Amino acid sequence: MQSWQQHLAESVEEILFDEETLAKRVKELAKEITADYQQLNISELVIIGILRGSVLFMSDLIRHIDLPVTIDFMAVSSYTKGTRSSGTVRILKDINESIQDKHVMIVEDIVDTGLTLQCLRELLCARQPKSLRICTLLDKPLRRRVEVPVDYVGFQIEDKFVIGYGLDYNDHYRQLPYIGVLKPEIYA
Ligand code: IMP
Repeated sequence: MQSWQQHLAESVEEILFDEETLAKRVKELAKEITADYQQLNISELVIIGILRGSVLFMSDLIRHIDLPVTIDFMAVSSYTKGTRSSGTVRILKDINESIQDKHVMIVEDIVDTGLTLQCLRELLCARQPKSLRICTLLDKPLRRRVEVPVDYVGFQIEDKFVIGYGLDYNDHYRQLPYIGVLKPEIYA
């Protein structure tokens, strides 16, 4: 009998980053982040994960960050259904703690048009953190509609809709351990 993972894999056109490649790059990013913040001599780094896509990436990343870290989460919605940005961003869940005078890093799964991060950045900057950086696992530069400064990027990818390792299509496929391109006929 076919397993659920095998069933999900049938929607994958191509695997872009397998488990090993992801683990290696996530470790490298964590090392870079650790080295950069060590220079600032910080007492605490607040890492804000953007729900739900960043959860797998963030949990792997923080395990390799060798600094005092606390975590918080925000949920936003930038897509209605399907694969294209609706152009509007709604805050569905806010962070629990104040970030005033704190060093903050947003962790996102993917930057596409940049609208979500631009909105989040403005919102969080208004709360006067000591610093605010952005880390994303994936970046689709060809699709950018607004410029957002992104400090840490795992991989740049082409304009393809990707799933797995936290990323979804209509809330499915997040559990795939790799990142793959979704077959266009699934969302056509
Ligand atoms: P942006 O506001 O257009 O930059 O969109 C960012 C959000 O869109 C991400 O946090 C994802 O939730 C979603 N997104 C954009 N591209 C993809 C993709 O290829 N696969 C899955 N989700 C995506």
